[in-house]
Amino acid sequence: MLGSIIDGIVSPPGIAEPYPSDPFPLLTQWLEEATRSGAYADANAMALATATPDAQPSVRIVLCKAIEPERHAITFFTNYESRKGLELAANPHAAVAFHWPNEGRQARLEGTVERLSDDENDAYFRTRPILSRIGAHASRQSRPIASRSVLVSEAARVAAASCLELGIARPPYWGGYRLHARSVELWTACEGRLHQRLRWQRAPAAPMWTLELLSP
Ligand SMILES: Cc1cc2nc3c(=O)[nH]c(=O)nc-3n(C[C@H](O)[C@H](O)[C@H](O)COP(=O)(O)O)c2cc1C
Repeated sequence: MLGSIIDGIVSPPGIAEPYPSDPFPLLTQWLEEATRSGAYADANAMALATATPDAQPSVRIVLCKAIEPERHAITFFTNYESRKGLELAANPHAAVAFHWPNEGRQARLEGTVERLSDDENDAYFRTRPILSRIGAHASRQSRPIASRSVLVSEAARVAAASCLELGIARPPYWGGYRLHARSVELWTACEGRLHQRLRWQRAPAAPMWTLELLSP
């Protein structure tokens, strides 16, 4: 009995020593493994927290579209005039959390965002399915609408107009953000909730991450 308890307590944690000096290669690996497993409809889904200048928080799910290890950054796309867009315009600090339950993994990043360039936004917008591009025009994300039929008829109008114009350009209020991480925490589930928490932090412009182990 005591033996099996001790076995659980000392069972090896997910990330072995020596710990990586940079968390981004491992974060990339974790997302690739979750995606390859086929177990998740959206392995790249993450909760994105923003806040108003007077510190009122809000959170929603968005899709991570790229991990950029060389920039210590990740990207996501949305409507710049949505609630999150307006909150980020007023307060560029943001936090995200991924959860991959089958692997017993969570990843958290905190930092500041900047908008992607028009060229980056146009390039990504062109890769989106046609219905998503139509939706970006038809939906003034986060604003109240009188009924669903308002949205549907606006989407139908955009679809008809775009057939005439032979294309659907990116609306100027739609685009991406790059979250530059100042803090990355990689969490792995362990027996008895003695989870492993590794947190890397980096001051702005500092070349190196500092790493610490946190209590679960
Ligand atoms: C799995 C999933 C993925 C989503 N991906 C995105 C996304 O990449 N970008 C986006 O703007 N909204 C996405 N959404 C919708 C958002 O959760 C949210 O409803 C929307 O962005 C409006 O948020 P806001 O009013 O706080 O700005 C996604 C929702 C789910 C459930």
